[in-house]
Amino acid sequence: MLIFAALMYSEKAIVMSGIRPTGFLHLGNYFGAIRNYVRMQEAYECYFMVADLHSLTTHPDTKELKANVHRVLAENIASGLDPEKAAFYCQSHIYETSELYLYLNMVAYLGELEKTTTFKEKARQQPDNVNAGLLTYPVLQTADIILHRAKYVPVGKDQEQHLEMARNFVNRFNHRYGEVFPEPYAFNYSAELVKVPSLDGTGKMSKSENQSATIYLADSDDQIRKKVMKAKTDEGPKTPGSIMPEYIRNLFTLMALVSEPGVSAQFEADFNACTIRYGDMKKKLAADMVRFVGPIREKVEAILADETYLKQVMERGAEKARASARETMRIVREAIGLHYY
Ligand code: TRP
Repeated sequence: MLIFAALMYSEKAIVMSGIRPTGFLHLGNYFGAIRNYVRMQEAYECYFMVADLHSLTTHPDTKELKANVHRVLAENIASGLDPEKAAFYCQSHIYETSELYLYLNMVAYLGELEKTTTFKEKARQQPDNVNAGLLTYPVLQTADIILHRAKYVPVGKDQEQHLEMARNFVNRFNHRYGEVFPEPYAFNYSAELVKVPSLDGTGKMSKSENQSATIYLADSDDQIRKKVMKAKTDEGPKTPGSIMPEYIRNLFTLMALVSEPGVSAQFEADFNACTIRYGDMKKKLAADMVRFVGPIREKVEAILADETYLKQVMERGAEKARASARETMRIVREAIGLHYY
């Protein structure tokens, strides 16, 4: 029975993704990324990794690193990522990653690395620290993924180019040394890839741009209410069948995510009948937002307060990741020809 279970497990397709520990997840991350992970952990063999080594390319000062790593672990777990189901670990705990990164650097060419969009962006943002780690960022990311011989990588559009590069590195490696790695592809449940609009009527919730229009999992009830009540509205439609402006449509989109079914339909009916009161709508949205985020925030706080639990999660995750990494690296060294006796 045990052997059967082990066989079943190993036959599941392998999923791998990395999360940068840059602190404070918001509803965009929750509905965009984490909900995907939570669904995948039921169906696949999942490896979810905190990309702490990657963060050294942009954040050489490590004073905040520990707190950031703890927070990203806690926020993902509080949002439903289950460290019993998936391997949830820190990149720096798996030394095999660095070894594979070294081998992959021999199949990555300077020209293509220099042309990478994210490299050019970062080089522009930090002209005094255009380090080689920044240049080979996609190589390290490829090592993360293929260390587990993963096929599916739940990431957003901004990571497409890195995955295309990963496939190139894989193909060159396989061509040179034999078919060791599958090609990795971006993969998401499309229904889960919800774009969460920001509260100021433009764009989506984002870490860097519009913090006062973004709801964070760490926001207090009061902060949430204030942000929602400040959202842009107008006098309301004057004639039936009016076209809904984007900033109003966004409020409906948010409502559909956090309120009970039927609530947004009721307000939509009011809109169409020109009887909608945006103040009431925002009050309802704020209350439901508080009801949604509050319990997650409290869970995050409880997890952060329990360092023993966090340590156990990291150790357990590293154990699972290491088992898979060791097996891959044994094959890799053999394939490359690093065997002299
Ligand atoms: N580069 C990814 C990002 O910026 C993070 C990351 C690191 C990653 N390693 C990975 C994503 C491996 C997917 C797979 O979000």
